[in-house]
Amino acid sequence: MSELTTISVTVNGEPREGRVEPRRSLADFLRQDMGLTGTHVGCEHGVCGACTVLVNGRSVRSCLLFAVQVNQQDVLTVEGLSPDGVTLHPLQQAFHEHHALQCGFCTPGMLLTSLELLRDNPAPTEAEVRLGLAGNLCMCTGYVNIVRAVLAAADGHAASASTAAGSETAESPPGALPRFPTGKEIA
Ligand code: FES
Ligand code: FES
Repeated sequence: MSELTTISVTVNGEPREGRVEPRRSLADFLRQDMGLTGTHVGCEHGVCGACTVLVNGRSVRSCLLFAVQVNQQDVLTVEGLSPDGVTLHPLQQAFHEHHALQCGFCTPGMLLTSLELLRDNPAPTEAEVRLGLAGNLCMCTGYVNIVRAVLAAADGHAASASTAAGSETAESPPGALPRFPTGKEIA
C-alpha cells in the first residue's frame, strides 16, 4: 500500500480532512471517504460528466482528478446545492418542475455544470445552454427537458432580479443580472 497523505479540503463550505493514497481519485474520496454519494461515477475516464463537481467554482471531472490535487481547495458537490439540506436550489426546483431527469444518474453533474453556466451567463440562449451542457451525457431524457429546466431557472433568476430593482450596485452594469447563486449563498 502506498503512503497516505493528509489533505484538508473545504467541501460544501465545511472544512474536511482525509488521509488518502496519492492515486485516490477525487470521486472516490468524495463518495467513499466523505460519504457524498451524490457524485456519480459512470465512465471513469472523463467522457460522461456524471462525476462533475466544482473546484474553486470551476467544473471538473472528479474521476480525472486525484484527491491530493484538491488539498487546500474548495469543492462543491450536489449535496451542497441546497441551502439547508431540505430546500431545493432553484436549479433543482426547475429540474423537478420540468421533468429534467428520469433515472437521475446524470443529474448531479448536469446540475453543477448548469450552475457554473448560469453563474457565468445568467441569461443564456437555448443554444448557449446546449453548448454549455455538451460535456454531460444523458441516456434517458433526450436533453429537451434539461435544457428547458436550465432556461426556466435562468428566467426565474431574471424575474427575481427585476423585482429587486434598485439593488444594482456600482459593480453591476445597468440591466445586468446579479450572479446566479451557488449552494449556501441562497440561504
Ligand atoms: S465518471 Fe467522470 S466523466 Fe464519466
Ligand atoms: S436521467 Fe438517466 S442518464 Fe440522464
